[in-house]
Parts: sequence; structure tokens; C-alpha cells
Amino acid sequence: MAPQTTALTDESTGTLTLGGELEVRRLGFGAMQITGDGIWGPPEDHDESIATLRRAVDLGINLIDTADSYGPDISEELIAEALHPYPEDLVIATKGGLTRTGPGQWPRDARPEHLREACEGSLRRLRVDRIDLYQLHSPDPKVPIEESVGTLKELQEEGKVRLIGVSNVSTAELETAREIVSVVSVQNRFNLEDRASEDVLARCEELGLAFIPWYPLAAGALADPGGPVSEIAEVHGATAPEIALAWLLARSEVMLPIPGTSSVEHLEDDIAAAEIELSDDELAQLNAG
Ligand SMILES: NC(=O)c1ccc[n+]([C@@H]2O[C@H](COP(=O)([O-])OP(=O)(O)OC[C@H]3O[C@@H](n4cnc5c(N)ncnc54)[C@H](OP(=O)(O)O)[C@@H]3O)[C@@H](O)[C@H]2O)c1
Repeated sequence: MAPQTTALTDESTGTLTLGGELEVRRLGFGAMQITGDGIWGPPEDHDESIATLRRAVDLGINLIDTADSYGPDISEELIAEALHPYPEDLVIATKGGLTRTGPGQWPRDARPEHLREACEGSLRRLRVDRIDLYQLHSPDPKVPIEESVGTLKELQEEGKVRLIGVSNVSTAELETAREIVSVVSVQNRFNLEDRASEDVLARCEELGLAFIPWYPLAAGALADPGGPVSEIAEVHGATAPEIALAWLLARSEVMLPIPGTSSVEHLEDDIAAAEIELSDDELAQLNAG
């Protein structure tokens, strides 16, 4: 029989208080993978996607990341189907600013009129009066970021959005956004293989903003047989994804990874990462890349 997965606790993950208001554990769930192939259409196994969402919450996850563009619509609809009415401490973070034209295609649209429409759709699908954390999915090169973020500020003033985050931004874009509105989180790609956002992470640390790394499980060649990730995984009796997450959790106190999966088994694996303590030597090996 497989060992029981230990539920997350505030101690095992550490916590972050988003915008000084919403306390969450530092290991969330990314709800992009619960849709169909190419993040398009319904999942192959609807019941497994629902079970994965419910198990995530049962195991102590209290931040779920999604977007109107995942499916599109499907991820948010499944979250509501699985979890509404929501537990009081559950923070649902969604995003607007991308559109979908087919599997794997993600054209940007962060015009004010589109963001307004996207936010209304998310409110409806998630069945909430106010979105806990609304993130600009990506700056749109055709629209000044001031206009996009200014729209999120208006939505906040109208009570439709509680806290605001940004995603896929440079440090300069983060600063521009912060001149307009109080930003509580940044969601950029960051993992063992891709550390291009080190400067953004450093700025989040200075400011006390949550840094939410997407694609957190990637380890590239480091996870090849004989590579540091595989060797460290073997020592801990763990999987490579668990080591990738344990490294992220140890990397910074503002780090809040959101691994995504459509399977309960993989979810339990990912959650087990919170129990792994990497030694200084192991961290040094992984930091060296
Ligand atoms: N802001 C943005 O632009 C942006 C972009 C991409 C993603 N995101 C967010 O970030 C979240 C995570 O990113 P991601 O999904 O790209 O990357 P990820 O979480 O690093 O990797 C997901 C992939 O890993 C597999 N997986 C998960 N746990 C596993 C395990 N224990 N063992 C083996 N395979 C495992 C999943 O497949 P299975 O389903 O088979 O487990 C899936 O293919 C997304 O859900 C989404 O919320 C944001």
C-alpha cells in the first residue's frame, strides 16, 4: 500500500500574507492542467480533475491559481463545480489578459474593455462576488501597461477584485504597475532550469511581494540520470518534481510555487515535497545549476 500523504501545515510550507490580508501556505495548486490537451476543452477524465481539486484542498492547499483562458473557461468552471461553496480560507487567484484561438494558442489582449469582460466572466464562472486575487496574465505590447493595470485598479475600486497581481513582467513593468496600484504578487516562469527572473524575484523579496513561479517542476538536464536532481531524489526516496519544488521552497521566503497536475497521484507527490529538507550541500549543488 502506498504511504499516506501528509497534509500541508503552516509549519511545513511556511505562509505568506498576500497584501497584508490573505494568509496562504507557500505551496499552491495550478489549475491549468485540469483541462484538455493544449489547455483546450474539457479534460479527458472529468472525475479525476474534480477529485484532484478536492484532494488538493483536503491536503491543506489554500491557494488555487487559474485563468479565464485555461480551457478557456473550463478550469474556472471545474473549480466551482468541485469546491463551491468555497472553504473560508481558500484563496482563488485568477487572471485575465489572454485570449484563445485554438489549442496551444494564447494571443494577448489586455485592452481595458477585454479585461472588464474577462473579469465579469471569471466572477460568473467562479460564482463569487469578488475575486480574491486578480492577475494581469501578461502585458500586451499593443496596450500601455498603465492602461491594463489602471483597469484592474478600477475593478478593485468597484469591489469586483480584492487584491491585484501581475504576471510575466520585467522589473521595469512591475515598477510601472506599482506606481498605479498596490501589487501583491508576481507570477513569472521560474524553475531549476530557467532562472531568468532572478532580478524580479529579488525585487519581490525587497518589497515583500509573493513570487509565484510557474512551470515550477521543470529541471531540464539537471534531472538527467546521474545529474544532481536525480541523485538528490534518490537520497531522499523522492521524485525529481519533488526535489524541484523543495528547492523552490528553500530558495526564498516569498516563493509560492503552484505545481499543476490532472492526477491525484501526482498531486500527492507534489505535496510531499513540503516534507523534504534539503541539506546545505544539496542546495549548493542545485543552486550551482
Ligand atoms: N502566468 C502564466 O503565464 C502561466 C503559464 C503557465 C502556467 N501557469 C500556472 O502555473 C501552473 C503550473 O505550471 P505548469 O503546469 O506549466 O507546470 P508544472 O506544474 O511545472 O508542470 C506540470 C506538468 O507536470 C506534470 N506533473 C505534475 N506533477 C507531477 C509529478 N508529481 N510527477 C510527474 N509529473 C508531474 C503534469 O502532468 P500530469 O497532469 O500528468 O500530472 C504536467 O504535465 C499552471 O497550472 C498555471 O496555474 C501560469
